[in-house]
Amino acid sequence: MRLRDCHNFHDFRRMAQQRLPGPIFNYIDGAADDEVTYRRNTASFEDCDLVPNVLRGMAEVDMSVTVMGQKLAMPVYCSPTALQRLFHHQGERAVAAAASKYGTMFGVSSLGTVSLEEVRKISGSPQVYQFYFHKDRGLNRAMMQRAKGAGVEVMMLTVDSIVGGNRERDKRTGFAIPFKLNLAGMLQFAIKPAWALNYFSHESFKLPQLDEHVDMGGGTMSISRYFNEMLDPSMNWDDVAEMVRLWSGQFCLKGIMSVEDARRAVDIGCTGIVLSNHGGRQLDGSRSGFDQLAEIVDAVGDRIDVMMDGGVHRGSHVLKALSLGAKAVGVGRYYLFPLAAAGEPGVERALGLMRMEIERCMKLMGAKSISELSRANLRFR
Ligand code: LAC
Repeated sequence: MRLRDCHNFHDFRRMAQQRLPGPIFNYIDGAADDEVTYRRNTASFEDCDLVPNVLRGMAEVDMSVTVMGQKLAMPVYCSPTALQRLFHHQGERAVAAAASKYGTMFGVSSLGTVSLEEVRKISGSPQVYQFYFHKDRGLNRAMMQRAKGAGVEVMMLTVDSIVGGNRERDKRTGFAIPFKLNLAGMLQFAIKPAWALNYFSHESFKLPQLDEHVDMGGGTMSISRYFNEMLDPSMNWDDVAEMVRLWSGQFCLKGIMSVEDARRAVDIGCTGIVLSNHGGRQLDGSRSGFDQLAEIVDAVGDRIDVMMDGGVHRGSHVLKALSLGAKAVGVGRYYLFPLAAAGEPGVERALGLMRMEIERCMKLMGAKSISELSRANLRFR
């Protein structure tokens, strides 16, 4: 399979599956428990239909948006995701470069494999730093200070991961970082020589945001061990209020799902919230961000920027979310499979296709700018 044969999410996913060792593919592709929420995320977009307006002179459209003070050339941004160098040696570099090319925001994870500072040099686009709240408060302060120094525009605290989700695919494959190579594992890697060649012929795996602080204990650390041992499940609204004060800039909470919490985010001075269930990877059975969008926009949309992520595969999904009042929409697996499939050209192609789909959809919907989209454009079944 070649990159030019990839026309949508499913094509990229298939190409990534061909290239990646099973445990790595399943880490990206998998979710928690029965993966009900993971499936629901995309399905929720199909519960409503677009109602177009025609004959409006649609030669040009403007899809730019402003969110958390950042001007984006397109309303889709790359959500922060962990461990990108495992998927392709370019890792975060490829995503930063592609986001820059399309003038959109991108996130770098605390579990990122390229440093905030290096990524900053690659991209002129707004950079988000995804933050986990650690038990070690000194570590939290040091990480925030470092992010300020690196020129990060937006702090994004993940609030849905105080413990690790039950990822049964990872349990079966023994997925760990860097690797725990048992015999079965070695076999999985040996049958994907292109990936192995790429992985072993480039710099070694690192977690530069954390490396002074995390003991990789004999070379491996599972994601659930990181969550369970280093993150602080006692994190509360007062802790976050203090972080917001310390950061004194654009601060957003990722993983807000209730109206009550959205209101509290406003009260403590956050400038954004992302309605998200972590791609179905944490609490299975939780509602989709898209399903929660209308009521949360109604409650707080005039006081805070509301974003959503989860299950977005199509330009039409993005238009539906924007019509309900989202300021921008995040994607994760949508760019990770292309990254795994082909590195930077893969991510560029995926964002380019998304851009084209949004433009086509806007023309077919009769919306010249994002502000012309509204609930009048939607009907729920
Ligand atoms: C995950 C974490 C690391 O979903 O964000 O795997």
